[in-house]
Amino acid sequence: MKDFKEQIAECFAKVIEISQDELKHMIEIPKDEKMGDYALPCFRFAKMFGKAPGLIAEDLKGKIDFANTDIEKIEIVGAYLNITIKQQALAEDVLKEISAQNENYGKQQIGNGKNVIVEYSSPNIAKPFHIGHLRTTLIGRALYNIYQTLGYKTIGINHLGDYGTQFGKMIEGYKRWGEEYNLEENPIEQLMQIYVRINELCKEDESVLEASRENFKKLEEGDEYCTNLWQKFRDLSLKEFYRIYDLLDIHFDSLNGEAFYADKTDEVIEILEKTGKLVESEGARIIDLEEQNMSPCMICKSNGSTIYATRDLAAILYRARTYDFDKCLYVVAYEQNLHFKQIFEVAKLLGIPEKCQKGLEHISYGMVHLKSGKMSTREGNVIKVEELLQEAISRVRTIMEEKNPELTEEEKDNIAKKVGIGAVIYNDLAGSRIKDEIFDWDTILNFNGETGPYIQYTYVRTNSVLKKVNDLPELSNVNTKLLLDEQSYKVLKLLYSYPEVIRNAADKNEPSIISRFLIDLSKAFSSFYNENKIMVDEQDVQDARIYLTYMVNLVLKNGASLLGINMPEKM
Ligand code: ARG
Repeated sequence: MKDFKEQIAECFAKVIEISQDELKHMIEIPKDEKMGDYALPCFRFAKMFGKAPGLIAEDLKGKIDFANTDIEKIEIVGAYLNITIKQQALAEDVLKEISAQNENYGKQQIGNGKNVIVEYSSPNIAKPFHIGHLRTTLIGRALYNIYQTLGYKTIGINHLGDYGTQFGKMIEGYKRWGEEYNLEENPIEQLMQIYVRINELCKEDESVLEASRENFKKLEEGDEYCTNLWQKFRDLSLKEFYRIYDLLDIHFDSLNGEAFYADKTDEVIEILEKTGKLVESEGARIIDLEEQNMSPCMICKSNGSTIYATRDLAAILYRARTYDFDKCLYVVAYEQNLHFKQIFEVAKLLGIPEKCQKGLEHISYGMVHLKSGKMSTREGNVIKVEELLQEAISRVRTIMEEKNPELTEEEKDNIAKKVGIGAVIYNDLAGSRIKDEIFDWDTILNFNGETGPYIQYTYVRTNSVLKKVNDLPELSNVNTKLLLDEQSYKVLKLLYSYPEVIRNAADKNEPSIISRFLIDLSKAFSSFYNENKIMVDEQDVQDARIYLTYMVNLVLKNGASLLGINMPEKM
């Protein structure tokens, strides 16, 4: 694909003593279309030249030679040089590229040979999968897809919360009353009940607490009875989690959770001991982080047992060795900001390769608020994610019943699932991830708003257009001059930007960049569609418009799939 930014940078590098690469990074895309396709701000040259930025802009414009490039014109607006690309060049490039790559348009090789771990979802065994876990699940899956499409080898890990002293209590509770509960039907709710009950008893009766501690110790030592029970709790919980994962079509490459690292913490302690930085403090062993302005990171409790952080350190060591990662992204809510800062600091002492050390990154995200309290809740604010997803599906099912009664039941079910789930996914990924999210049924299911259903609806429209022709026109028959009206060209520019949009999303670990793009493309297509009749008598006009529709169809589907949104063929 032609890289217009590169062409611009190359021209400027000949008249200014700044590297082409640096110049390329300085080039911006103006918000206002009238300001050209690209802009080079001259503020940063003021010091270098000892001149006002506006004058520098004039100077540069006088010197620059852009004959033999795809630059149409360069204009000065204040301290900016606004650059416009030849429309014809852009149009031809987009068509050539997409016709060669089809559904692979957007795929890149920049990540070849590099490994990226995305750790996401990571719910806790025997505890509810809450709405925060839904966000990590969706953000993480999107990042996984985005890196994969850029050519990185991606490893998706669900770091299950399947370890801790509470399992000693669970075992004790199950031992006493297991028969009273039906774990098969609603395992997590049942296990929670057992847990609450045994906790009460532990408070009343010291010997029960002692027995629970003993169970945990046995579990650590691999005792068969305790391990089997733990395995049962884990399996049952996973079975419930997979009802949600299946609805969302979520997959993991590894389910190695905290328990997997329990026997790998000794090595962490040994390594830390050797650095001389592991110190005693009130009976516990800690790494002091005062120099880094943080509270200390505890490694061993006073009774000698390790904690959450220790297992995370063991995981870093293991992952560095096993996956030789270039990046390890932790998609976890912002409540754990301090935890990750601490363990990343301590990880510097583990002797892992520098690239791994630098590749550790906490991808934090905001909370979800409900607009109305109407959603099914239990225990106050815990929303049952599975119910939420089912409700989204059933609401769309009702809408389909009204809108498209002619569809078969099977078709309605199928659409309801894709659109209902798509709406929830889109809503979760629409805003920048660090912002808190508002959940409101009316907003997320609005077919005309900035929503998942709107993108899907636009896609379905492109489908119906394409169904009207038997064959796609040959590329050689498409006259790109017929696509230079305002609406068509806007669509072309967006299509051109798609590969860069994916790279930006990876750079910032921000799926919302893709969400924004999909809305922009949908809106641009809608204006194109409203302004231009597609099926017309002039064959060449029709061919060009059909081809544009085809490209939008491909890119909408491809972009949505990065977010995990499936497209219905009808709607
Ligand atoms: N299980 C934790 C929770 O639900 C999240 C785990 C995050 N990952 C990690 N490596 N610490 O809050």
